Amino acid sequence: MEVLGVDIGGSGIKGAIVNTQEGDFASERLRIETPQPSTLEAVAAVVAEIAGQFKWKSAIGCTVPAVVKRGVTMTAANIDDAWVGADARQLLQSATGSPVIVLNDADAAGIAEMKFGAGRGRDGLVAILTLGTGIGSSLFIDGRLVPNTELGHLIIRGKDAEERATDRARQLKGYSWKQWGKRVSEYLEYLESLITPDLFIIGGGVSRRHKKFFPYLCCKTEVVPAQLRNRAGIVGAAVAAVDLI
Ligand code: BGC
Repeated sequence: MEVLGVDIGGSGIKGAIVNTQEGDFASERLRIETPQPSTLEAVAAVVAEIAGQFKWKSAIGCTVPAVVKRGVTMTAANIDDAWVGADARQLLQSATGSPVIVLNDADAAGIAEMKFGAGRGRDGLVAILTLGTGIGSSLFIDGRLVPNTELGHLIIRGKDAEERATDRARQLKGYSWKQWGKRVSEYLEYLESLITPDLFIIGGGVSRRHKKFFPYLCCKTEVVPAQLRNRAGIVGAAVAAVDLI
């Protein structure tokens, strides 16, 4: 089945038609800069433009960097604060004229990794963590998603983990791979002390460079890099939207 997946981020809005059986793109990937300010109306217009370019009239899955409950965005990270409390699903549906499902970006990436990537066939408790501008988390128990976990905001050494273990923190603070790897390790060790997972999957653009920092990870839990790379959000969003058809 083909579904349009859209990944809404703080700097870009990316969309592609996805073959949801194969977990791959069935079209080219379109990317449009996120409008500033990134109000819901402005972003919805871009999503409508992407759908229009694909002449898309069917279901759309949309990721957002936010907690989402029944289509309502409850938080907003790297997008305009006006998203908090807004009915994102309704606005995106009226902008595109299509049925839309809205879900957290890390949950979407997790769905894709569990179905087509590093989590395939893995049961027990799997935690997928995307280390990018923020830390996104998604948790799966025997393959079933527990949505909106927000485990990236654990407090470590008095600070939000995002200030220490994101790729953004690595670049901003000029950490070496070793310095940063130790911070990521501390985060994973704290998380494993709380939830005792069976597997950690590390995603986000930096997972491409996992060989640079995995040697510094000391947690007991098995850690593997994500496999879908920058396709994960779009693919997961599309898979989540299949039920709308
Ligand atoms: C947000 C999450 C999001 C993550 C990755 C965090 O700052 O709180 O909702 O999944 O960033 O974008």
